[in-house]
Amino acid sequence: MTIKPFVEENVSALRKQVLRLRRGGRKIALIPTMGALHAGHFALVRQARRRAKAVIVSIFVNPKQFAPTEDFSAYPRNFDRDLTALSEVGVDLIWLPTDAAMYPDGFSTAIAPGGPAKVGLEDTYRPHFFGGVATVVSKLFLQVAPDFAMFGEKDYQQLKVVTRMAKDLDLPLSVIGCPTVREKDGLALSSRNVYLSPLERSVAPLLHRTLQDCAAAIRAGKPVAEVMQHGRTALTAAGFAVDYLEARHAESLATVASQGDGPIRLLVAARLGKTRLIDNIAV
Ligand code: PAJ
Repeated sequence: MTIKPFVEENVSALRKQVLRLRRGGRKIALIPTMGALHAGHFALVRQARRRAKAVIVSIFVNPKQFAPTEDFSAYPRNFDRDLTALSEVGVDLIWLPTDAAMYPDGFSTAIAPGGPAKVGLEDTYRPHFFGGVATVVSKLFLQVAPDFAMFGEKDYQQLKVVTRMAKDLDLPLSVIGCPTVREKDGLALSSRNVYLSPLERSVAPLLHRTLQDCAAAIRAGKPVAEVMQHGRTALTAAGFAVDYLEARHAESLATVASQGDGPIRLLVAARLGKTRLIDNIAV
């Protein structure tokens, strides 16, 4: 069944729709996205349906989370395809703010996250990133005022940053983390996978396999530092330029020396040619 969702582009029109959706005390779930939707995003929609009667997807390619050297202008955009897919999956409303609706002239406020946003992972390689994410996500939360907000574990540090921010700012909603959706060969789905050449695409699943190998070695009692160094070497030998491959505490993202410091999450970011891939798994 396809139901054409409402599409709104400015805050006052959005708020009218949200009031309508809330009638009868219906709960609302929000899934923030940057579009170029894939099965990972649709899994979040399905998880949202389980918790809330009304589901809203936002699509906004947020300039504040890209550095000038990054792929903001090249980021894949295909709203018509996204709209068709969301009609098929079944959502009630698409929030598609214009740049002017999100950041009107004179916009001068920013959220500066700390804690999990400052642990030496993505923040080292993309120093502007979590400030941009926290600012836009807090705006999306205030615009939509959802009961639930769905985020993928695929972007594990982002999930922790948003969870912390919602708690610190007493935002009246629950942030829900959802498992990473993967291709059959283990590659985590990402809007950026379209950048990979056929050769790079054939190498890319090694990222997940290396995480699995490292997790198995740590579970078998091998020293964490040695295992991670081994993993970095394997990735480099396969042609990845590794930004980081680290074992961290799954909640605080603090460094861990041994299994006893856990629960452990393994996180990786590595480049294949021009494409930067990230992934993570639990040990
Ligand atoms: P985007 O990359 O479009 O991702 C939107 C949501 O989908 C995020 O919560 C992300 O973790 C989740 N997601 C992406 N790939 C996934 C996969 N393979 N499995 C499960 N979930 C997946 O993340 C952003 O956009 C932006 O930073 C945003 C939060 C929208 C702020 O601009």
